[in-house]
Amino acid sequence: MQLYERIPNNVNLSEDKRLQRALENWLPNYLDWWREMGPDGFQQKDVFLRTAVSVEPEGWAHFDYIKMPDYRWGIFLKPAEADARIGFGDNYGMPAYQEVPGEFRNALRRIIVTQGDTEPASVEQQRQLGKTCPSLYDLRNLFQVNVEEGRHLWAMVYLLHRYFGRDGRDEADELLQRRSGNPDKPRILEAFNQPCDDWLNFFCFTTFTDRDGKYQLAALAESGFEPLARTCQFMLTEEAHHLFVGETGVGRVVKRTAQLMKENRGANAREGGGIPLEIIQRYINFWFSYSLDLFGGEISSNSADFFAAGLKGRFQEQKKYEDHFAVDEMFSLTVVENGELKQRDVPMRNALNEVLRGEYVADCERALARWNKYIHEEGVQAELYLPSTRFHRHVGEFAGHYFDVQGRLISQEEFERFKPEWLPSFEDREYVRSLMHPVTEPGKIANWIAPPAAGIKGRPFDFEYVRL
Ligand SMILES: [Fe+2]
Ligand SMILES: [Fe+2]
Repeated sequence: MQLYERIPNNVNLSEDKRLQRALENWLPNYLDWWREMGPDGFQQKDVFLRTAVSVEPEGWAHFDYIKMPDYRWGIFLKPAEADARIGFGDNYGMPAYQEVPGEFRNALRRIIVTQGDTEPASVEQQRQLGKTCPSLYDLRNLFQVNVEEGRHLWAMVYLLHRYFGRDGRDEADELLQRRSGNPDKPRILEAFNQPCDDWLNFFCFTTFTDRDGKYQLAALAESGFEPLARTCQFMLTEEAHHLFVGETGVGRVVKRTAQLMKENRGANAREGGGIPLEIIQRYINFWFSYSLDLFGGEISSNSADFFAAGLKGRFQEQKKYEDHFAVDEMFSLTVVENGELKQRDVPMRNALNEVLRGEYVADCERALARWNKYIHEEGVQAELYLPSTRFHRHVGEFAGHYFDVQGRLISQEEFERFKPEWLPSFEDREYVRSLMHPVTEPGKIANWIAPPAAGIKGRPFDFEYVRL
């Protein structure tokens, strides 16, 4: 571990002078981007953050006060295993790729750039949120997520610089040039161009969109291109906290809403200054549907090619599956044919996006069940749900068609008529925004959200997580 180098790393960077120089040239551009597009304000404040100090599962992180620009951005890969093999696809059992195989070069670069692009994008989307934090605890969690997304960008940029030569360096530069939501140079994926300008958006984003990240990284952590697999394995360790922030964040909003409903004898939580369940539901519908698009088309020749090549596996490929070829299997999925929903059997390898999406949806259901438990615990009779995976889709089989939240095919007119019931309206967003006032006194919290069950790293809730 070269922890105290200019670019901390565990890839022996100092032995590869060319690469080290290239990354040291990229570093100031990265810092410029961070200053311009990272959290607005707070850059000189001490934040109680965790930093990676090792890549071992036990004790990899160190917690202390640090100013965000001094964060230890670095390159950390899970250590290599002796005799690593390709775990699936046509080359199953062959030695893992240590360099990029020529015929897959473009595909692999595309995968890495697309993943890499999401990391700075989310930081950009969230850059104004610090100003309206509901508590110091939440402010700290926001910044923790932000610096780690910055480090994830480093992880992908390392792969581009190290394995893709000139075009890799160009791609690394472009990762700092695109901007979330900018019509002229938008981020690659649409979920990462959506505004994330209030804390309910933030918690939904970290629940649903970061969870897509978890599944993409998990599929890439199986990759036969070993450096990519090892990079993603370590990123997943950090990602778990982002999902925690999202899931407990929405959970605490839901809990507070249920409390206010109970106090007002079932009346709308709005009267008590909370966020009504209907609005929370519409935010869920919005972020869930955009996040589903991130898995790609239901039927995909790319997914088949990536699997065949051993580049992108299934979720827990080694743990969950016995047959790593998946050539003879078929998968039945729903498609739209002549204005009707029909079942169609497709070769398993062409359905892998949908298989991964299925794993994701099951994981989201778990989060919903927990949120509903908070509602029931307050004695309130109401439930949040996940809309159909066909609802409000912009990518794949269902794009260009209209569905209700139950997944029934409907006309465009009907969709437009019910849209204010299903998706956040301008008024919803205005209302949520009207609640967003900063609460920065240690131990205090905004009225629209419940405090967390525990603090960070054994510290109490009233700990001074950010010194303002
Ligand atoms: Fe990330
Ligand atoms: Fe994340």
